[in-house]
Amino acid sequence: MNRAVLVTGGAGFVGSHVCKALAQAGFQPVVYDNLSRGHRWAVQWGPLEEGDLAQPARLDQVMRDYRPAAVMHFASSIEAGESVTDPAAFYANNVCNTLSLVQAMRRNGIDRLVFSSSAAVYGNPATLPITESHALSPVNPYGATKQFCEVMLRDFAAAYGVRSVSLRYFNAAGADPDAQIGEAHDPETHLIPLVMQAAAGDRPFVSIYGDDYPTSDGTCVRDYVHVSDLAAAHCLALDYTERAPGAHVFNLGNGSGYTVREVIDTVRRITGRTIGVRVEPRRPGDPCSLLADPGRAKEWLGWAPSRAGLDVQIADAWRWFKRRRALSDRNGAATTDDNVRRFPVKTVAEYRPWAAS
Ligand code: UFG
Repeated sequence: MNRAVLVTGGAGFVGSHVCKALAQAGFQPVVYDNLSRGHRWAVQWGPLEEGDLAQPARLDQVMRDYRPAAVMHFASSIEAGESVTDPAAFYANNVCNTLSLVQAMRRNGIDRLVFSSSAAVYGNPATLPITESHALSPVNPYGATKQFCEVMLRDFAAAYGVRSVSLRYFNAAGADPDAQIGEAHDPETHLIPLVMQAAAGDRPFVSIYGDDYPTSDGTCVRDYVHVSDLAAAHCLALDYTERAPGAHVFNLGNGSGYTVREVIDTVRRITGRTIGVRVEPRRPGDPCSLLADPGRAKEWLGWAPSRAGLDVQIADAWRWFKRRRALSDRNGAATTDDNVRRFPVKTVAEYRPWAAS
């Protein structure tokens, strides 16, 4: 069987960690990424094919070249706030491009997909913890685009036999425990990296968006899940598509929640640094509390997260943060191209003979 797996968005945060897990599981990740948000240095476990999902001919060419057994689809716009001000970009990039990808899969006889969905499909939950049968009621266009894609995949399973697993991530956190890769958004909007920037002295304080929520300390509760545990779940989901026809959805979270203040306190403790905070008004579109019921993923996929606590997630993220900083300082630029030298990637040409065999 061909062990190639096409990974759209494989140069991004979750996608790159999944590539590492795929390689460790004996698969050959082939990254398809337009590098609009991803990083060349994050592609370390297989070839990088630069391309856009809106280019059907390019997708066909890459699928013909590598003949992947399955596709994992991460490429998408992810900032919920941006989706409110520019929904057109989100519908084009997330919905139209997913359609373009699945159509290319059908043209090329690929019938297995693992899709990167989000807890944002639930909106403000009526009950906690959230099970997969909870009503879907996204409160921003980002969540709506993920919901539309899930519906598309359900219909494509029924009509065309495209098998899929949609994984609804709660809050992705942490970094590769070996610190080879990690989170690097630009601009950064996510809580944990922002708190680490404040710990490192890059910003004078961290904003707390609202401290009048009905939670233990008034700040929002989130269910943080380690990116390596997410990666493991994707490998299990890939196996699942082999044995299970249809379209399936699973929550990926730990079922334990932490407030914004608890996150900041944990970063203080792990880093030993002083972190200033400033309470600001609530951020529009933020649900008060999100907490997963991960029971279905554990039972059906056999998922067993191994880095569930906030301490280990922040310790891993901080190790990566410092390593990235050290490399950037040495290179005199905000880059970790050093990673590429240290963990060299084979050239695409080196892969092609294998792919054609
Ligand atoms: N927060 C602050 N200050 C900041 C940044 C964030 O207080 O400077 C708060 C937010 O208000 C929120 C929590 O920290 O309560 C987490 O915020 P993030 O921006 O880190 O993450 P979100 O929960 O907003 O969103 C994340 C992903 C989305 C995904 C969602 C699913 O970014 O893509 O989880 O739960 F849809």
